[in-house]
Amino acid sequence: MSNSVSFSLAPFDLVLFGGTGDLAMRKLLPAMYFRHHEAQLPDEGRIICIARSDLTTEQFVQKMEVAARSYIKPEDFHDETWKTYCDRIVYAPIDITDQSHYDKLAELLKPFPDRVRVFYLSTAPSLFARICQGVSEAGLITHQSRVALEKPLGRDLESALQINDQLAGAFDERQIYRIDHYLGKETVQNLMALRFGNSLFEPLWRREHISDVQITIAEQLGVEGRAGYYDHTGALRDMVQNHLLQLLVILAMEPPVSIHPDAVRDEKIKVLRSLKPIVGRDVLTNIVRGQYKSGVVTGEQVLAYRDADGVDPKSNTETYVAIKAEIESWRWQGVPFFLRTGKSMPEKRTEIVVNFRSVPHSIFDMPMAPNRLIIRLQPEEIIKLQIFAKGRGDEMRLQPVDLDLDFNETFEKRQMIAYERLLLDMIRGNQTLFNHRDEVAAAWEWIDPIINTWDELNVEPRLYAAGTWGPAASNALIAKDGCGWIEEFT
Ligand code: BG6
Repeated sequence: MSNSVSFSLAPFDLVLFGGTGDLAMRKLLPAMYFRHHEAQLPDEGRIICIARSDLTTEQFVQKMEVAARSYIKPEDFHDETWKTYCDRIVYAPIDITDQSHYDKLAELLKPFPDRVRVFYLSTAPSLFARICQGVSEAGLITHQSRVALEKPLGRDLESALQINDQLAGAFDERQIYRIDHYLGKETVQNLMALRFGNSLFEPLWRREHISDVQITIAEQLGVEGRAGYYDHTGALRDMVQNHLLQLLVILAMEPPVSIHPDAVRDEKIKVLRSLKPIVGRDVLTNIVRGQYKSGVVTGEQVLAYRDADGVDPKSNTETYVAIKAEIESWRWQGVPFFLRTGKSMPEKRTEIVVNFRSVPHSIFDMPMAPNRLIIRLQPEEIIKLQIFAKGRGDEMRLQPVDLDLDFNETFEKRQMIAYERLLLDMIRGNQTLFNHRDEVAAAWEWIDPIINTWDELNVEPRLYAAGTWGPAASNALIAKDGCGWIEEFT
């Protein structure tokens, strides 16, 4: 690595609260390492990790290396640049509930009052307000400071508003970075590139040409040691309120006038506000709530959710949701957006399928399937357009073929961790890929009545065997509109 390239980043101090936590070790610290390795960080850039454990910086760095070696592929781990990366790390044992401890942080930060300061709250949400108050009272919030928060931002509209108000007591909205790590994924940004960097799709991107859209976030993992959080949260709050709705919004929004954060956020909020509310009995007909029972995922026997460590044996928490969502606008009236997410599914797959309408009349002596655009976000990044072409031979027989873009084959560079982009954007001061408080509120406004109805009607989740694609009712949900989930990546 050479530091001789020019930097677009200003000198910074990134203060990571929750520095010994899983997210910091697994994603945030490796993400910054990659940016360091690519020589994108200025020499004057420190990462100050804060946690309660009584460690020296040296001990912390050792711990960080053990973790990093298990999360970074050996071919991407470079001993030389790792060593220089570690020089950026400072560890400070701080009890964030004790105001006097913020003086230690002040000592570390005060020599560099002009640097960009990012306070990254990778902690339980219950500590957000306390940390904001702590840094504020210690006089650490400068003009160049920002605060970054991980989801979940509340568990309903009321608690989200409360958190936002607490943040607003210490920071301006322009200083607040609400993270949805899906927005940092390159394929999600590519979705915008595909829609707004090509003239091809825009004229077709509407109800006249699109029959339905499917968005799937399937995970093979089950609750995996997160029962304390997950059993009080469930898939609707954990995945739909944020990641799934963000994908829907980017897919459905009107073209923004520019890539400026305000322009993009304005369009995103409009989509959230035009989501048709699902209330009362519609919750029963438009939504399937599921929970996995025991089964087999990739050859391994998996315990039922209710038998997992830390889960209430009578828990009704959903590990699967399928929803028929509708957007009330001229562009999308009548086009169902089928959303689904689940744990303990047969594959890890995040994928968007846009089904176009069939040709109005087939002149070929055969039924014609509709064109389909498939955007796969993970595990591989692939964009496929299924069209029909005549196969070789003397007969006029049409068959589906794919126009195929495989990002691994087309771009040689390593696929970035979503946080690499997000962390750099926080330092740059670019809020395009972060959520405005109004977006979070609009998403909860749509989610709250669903949760309330489930509670009022005591809706029990339908069981599905781990390792399957969810309850049978989810097929019935989509079949009502003459559609079927695309299970196979053809
Ligand atoms: C998190 C959820 O936000 O996203 C987890 O809390 C989920 O439950 C994870 O597993 C999925 O993220 P990714 O990037 O692996 O698709």
